[in-house]
Amino acid sequence: SPVPVITIDGPSGAGKGTVTQMLARRLGWHLLDSGALYRLTALAAVRQGVPFDDEPGLVRVAASLDVRFEPTPAGGPVRVILAGEDVTAEVRTESAGDNASKVAVIQAVRDALLQRQRDFRQAPGLVADGRDMGTVVFPDAPTKIFLTASAEERAQRRYRQLKDAGLSVNIDALLDEIRARDDRDMNRSAAPLKPADDAQVIDSTGLGIEEVLGKVMAAAGQA
Ligand code: C5P
Repeated sequence: SPVPVITIDGPSGAGKGTVTQMLARRLGWHLLDSGALYRLTALAAVRQGVPFDDEPGLVRVAASLDVRFEPTPAGGPVRVILAGEDVTAEVRTESAGDNASKVAVIQAVRDALLQRQRDFRQAPGLVADGRDMGTVVFPDAPTKIFLTASAEERAQRRYRQLKDAGLSVNIDALLDEIRARDDRDMNRSAAPLKPADDAQVIDSTGLGIEEVLGKVMAAAGQA
């Protein structure tokens, strides 16, 4: 029987990344952070001087991405190595996410990353986090979650994360960015952000991370 997949899609800042990591660790399954591939494509394009309106150039960059995800001992954050350079911190910035959503509107870029994503499906199982995991990349996944939260709550969470990291941020600017990214992700023609028909929608507004994880585990029949 095929290797099981749990897909976790939703807008940015809904807690997908954290939930995906916790779930993968708890189950002992592999993890796919598909957003990282779009972030890395945008980052590599900037490094190589390929502008975001050069579609064939972006497709070349996506198809030839030289990336390694290196687990750190003791379950620390995975290190992201792009063409031999450690870009772990850079790939998580707001601007990397914003640039990712610009290259992600291009269907040919998405096509270039498709097989690379499917290759993460290996025994004993995969937890995959993104926008189109349940709709496009793993349409046969037995468990599909759509994790959402209000834009205000997502901006608040991001604000706290950035403040904790010692960065000075403006909450209103964050909220504007989150709304702009939602808008771009939901209203594009290539794999727009939306729940799969057979997805279970979980709203994490007002919930702590353990509560969200509990709901996701229950939805996945793993509670
Ligand atoms: O999830 P993350 O914030 O890392 O994703 C960055 C951007 O990459 C998203 O805003 C979206 O535009 C794009 N993306 C996508 N499809 C995915 C994952 C991410 O289009 N499966």
